[in-house]
Formats: sequence, C-alpha cells, structure tokens
Amino acid sequence: MFHQLPTLTRKNILVFFFTLNDLLKDIAGFYALLSKDEQKKAQRFSFEKDSNQYTLARGALRVLLGHYLNVVPQSLTFSYHKYGKPYLEDFPEMQFNVSHSQEMVLLALNYEDLLGVDIEYEERSVDVDGIARRFFNDKEYARLRNLDAINKKRLFFYQWTAKEAFVKAIGRGIAFNLRDIEIASDAEEEIRIVNLHNSNENPADWIFYTLSLIPRYVAVLATKASSKVLGIKHLDRSLVQP
Ligand SMILES: CC(C)(COP(=O)(O)OP(=O)(O)OC[C@H]1O[C@@H](n2cnc3c(N)ncnc32)[C@H](O)[C@@H]1OP(=O)(O)O)[C@@H](O)C(=O)NCCC(=O)NCCS
Repeated sequence: MFHQLPTLTRKNILVFFFTLNDLLKDIAGFYALLSKDEQKKAQRFSFEKDSNQYTLARGALRVLLGHYLNVVPQSLTFSYHKYGKPYLEDFPEMQFNVSHSQEMVLLALNYEDLLGVDIEYEERSVDVDGIARRFFNDKEYARLRNLDAINKKRLFFYQWTAKEAFVKAIGRGIAFNLRDIEIASDAEEEIRIVNLHNSNENPADWIFYTLSLIPRYVAVLATKASSKVLGIKHLDRSLVQP
C-alpha cells in the first residue's frame, strides 16, 4: 500500500512533513492505531487542534515506523528516556524524532545515528530580545542585537530551532541549558556548533540541516556528521493511511 514511500537505508535520513489538513479526514483511523495511553493523552488536551496534532503525529509516526520495520503499526510499544524522548526498545537502531508547530508536523527517521528536529512558526509574536537574553550566550546575543528587526527575528528562529534540534537529538530537551550551546549561523545554511559546555558531545561530530518545507516555518534537523538527509517528503493521504 505504501510503495511510494522512499527507501530508508542506514545513515540516510528521511524527513516527512504534513499539515493537519493533509491527514485530518483519516483522524479516526489514526486514533485507532494509538495505544490506550496515547489515546488517553489525546483526550486530555484542552484544545481540539492540539489533540488532532498529537493524534496525527503519533499515528503517522506509527504508520511510517511500521512500514520501515515491517511490523503492524499498533504493535509498536514506545518507551521514554529520562527527559521524555520516545524510542523503541525492540528496535534500538531505529532513530526518529517529531516536532509540531501550529498546523505543521515534522518527522525524521534514521537507522543508527541520533537525530533531532524542531519546527517553529516564524510569524508568531515572540519577545526575541527577552528570549535571546535568557537562552542565548553573550556572543550570540551580541550578533543578534546588531541586526535590523526582520533579520534579527529570522536569525533568532534559526538559532533557536538549531539549539532545540540538538537538545532533542541528544534527548535532553529543555533540561539542557541552551546557553551552553554556542551556534554559529551567519548564513541560514551554515549552522554549526562552535562551543559546547557541560556535554561529552564533540561539536565536530554534529551537522545541521535547515529544511525548506513551506513558507513561514523554520525547521532544523541536527544529527551526527556521519549521517545525511536523503530526502524530504510531503505526506498526504496518498502516501500514509491508517
Ligand atoms: C522536548 C521538548 C524540547 C519539546 O519541545 P517543543 O518545541 O515543545 O515540542 P516539539 O513539537 O518540537 O517536540 C515534541 C516532540 O518531541 C519528542 N520529545 C519529547 N521529549 C523529548 C526529548 N527530551 N528529547 C527529544 N525529543 C523529545 C516527542 O515525540 C514530542 O512529541 P509527542 O508529544 O507528540 O510525542 C521540551 O518539551 C522538553 O524539553 N521537554 C522535556 C521535559 C522533561 O524534562 N521531562 C522530564 C520528565 S518526562
């Protein structure tokens, strides 16, 4: 049924994204794929949009993982690392990560190397200076301060999503002090870590991809330099169904 999905091979990352509308018609079917705990979580959200976002993201993730692991999506059991990163105990080599923002869901899969993704809606109102002062280190903040408002916001989002993608890749999430990661990204395409504190990771081992998905969203993927992004696929009902 999913013969149009690209092949996943070792260290060749596949990225998938969709908007909620792309898969909303099948939401009941995706909900049915979720475990009892996941269904309970889906019911706990205050807003329907958040519940739909969770249901579709987790449901599509199950379908993709089921496809690439050749198992029934419902049979997958997620475990969680200390800071909440989901993983599959039965398939430890399968690496994946999910991010959602507004109408968008972003997923990435890889065999072997860690990866993390983050997507942010650029148009949302955000206190750039306040957040940068708190979560960026002095050099990063100084670089931002010299920019005009438009470029400042743009660079801010790239740096922010890069930091989030990295802390998601290593599974630490916001438990990691974002000031401990110094990101250089003079051009959006060349994000790299120049300094990293309080971590055993070597910055030279890491690589960042800025992902062009749809306008007004900034998305970054962080992974080990030995892996590369092989393809980016816009999912719709012709590609994934529950
Ligand atoms: C992970 C985190 C960075 C997410 O940031 P965000 O911008 O709000 O959300 P995103 O949409 O980008 O990502 C959410 C997804 O990341 C994944 N995720 C959750 N925790 C993660 C972690 N520590 N590392 C990597 N990925 C994580 C999940 O798949 C989640 O999606 P789901 O809830 O649909 O399963 C942030 O929530 C965090 O750090 N949480 C940690 C909280 C914590 O320390 N918990 C400890 C007890 S569990």
